[in-house]
Amino acid sequence: MSTPPTPQELLEALKQVKYPGFSRDIVAFGVVKDIAVGGAAVTVELAPSTGNAEVIANIRQRVIETLSRLVHLPVEISIQQPDAPKPTPQSKPEIPGVRHVVAVASGKGGVGKSTVSVNLATALARAGQRVGVMDADVYGPSIPLMLGITEKPKSTEDKRLIPVTKYDMQIMSMGFLIPDSHAVIWRGPMIDKLLTEFITKVEWGELDVLVVDLPPGTGDAQLTMVQKVPLSGGVIVTTPQDVALLDARRGIKMFEEVNVPVLGVIENMSYLLCRSCGHEAHIFSHGNGIKMAEQFGLPFLGQLPLVHEIVAGGDAGIPLVIAQPDHPQSQTFLEIAQQVLKQVETSSVRPGPLQ
Ligand SMILES: Nc1ncnc2c1ncn2[C@@H]1O[C@H](COP(=O)(O)OP(=O)(O)O)[C@@H](O)[C@H]1O
Ligand SMILES: [Mg+2]
Repeated sequence: MSTPPTPQELLEALKQVKYPGFSRDIVAFGVVKDIAVGGAAVTVELAPSTGNAEVIANIRQRVIETLSRLVHLPVEISIQQPDAPKPTPQSKPEIPGVRHVVAVASGKGGVGKSTVSVNLATALARAGQRVGVMDADVYGPSIPLMLGITEKPKSTEDKRLIPVTKYDMQIMSMGFLIPDSHAVIWRGPMIDKLLTEFITKVEWGELDVLVVDLPPGTGDAQLTMVQKVPLSGGVIVTTPQDVALLDARRGIKMFEEVNVPVLGVIENMSYLLCRSCGHEAHIFSHGNGIKMAEQFGLPFLGQLPLVHEIVAGGDAGIPLVIAQPDHPQSQTFLEIAQQVLKQVETSSVRPGPLQ
């Protein structure tokens, strides 16, 4: 009879089991607390950092499946329920009153990151969440324009900034703080200072979700931000061309490097939808975004075609989700918002369901 595998070998095998919705595995997430190989059974102690029964059942089943392939003994699982929220893996200060911070990133500019940010934010607000938007794009802060905001934020007596309220959301933009025609060279320390102000000097109030529109790319400025802002997760926006996907991959790596879960991939400008006949012209390669998400073990959150109404909404300062809530692409944004909410609920970084 062959010798049974050691607990270390079984732990190694469990590295193939991804945490549901994440590209990292359950061992990396610290879910596997103990493995013991006895004469009559293998016992595994799991400590998922979520109370979500569906996620726990999923992990449990896949652990049993994986281990049963290696050992001919019954696999017994014990689950440690999380009793109190665990400290975040990063030692970043929380933003007072803000429950979840979701960053929208892209490998390169012009892929629709800001468009997705405003429509995701408005979709979250429509879903009953208290929402804020932090326009942290130092190179091209376009959120005020896309939301039709002309006023500047007011400040309190003690010099704290009050975000501008628009469409029931709290908005702060780098654009409020820098003069329009000013070419600014953003260096690390300046970005650092502004970000610190955004995090510590803005009266965000009570928010369920703060959506952060990051600057495009994966350079130093972006890295500073994902390190500094206490993110619950990141969303990657890409277009389907190979070059854009290559950049998006770097975006995923950037979040993973700083231990921020990637909530999923959105493919924008997937194809051209003809206004009059409804014909779908697949001008770029088809299905690339889905393939990339699969490759990284990430959820594919949705696909948005090039449609005139999205440009028009951005130009008019009325996001599509508000201008035309029944539009098919508004529905896509609402579905994406639901998925994002579900993701942050199960996030091991910020455990606990949304109210
Ligand atoms: N799905 C879409 N269909 C049509 N136009 C879009 C779509 N997504 C974005 N756009 C337009 O493309 C331009 C760039 O989008 P933007 O969100 O500013 O990109 P980024 O923030 O990535 O630079 C904007 O004019 C916007 O209205
Ligand atoms: Mg932008």
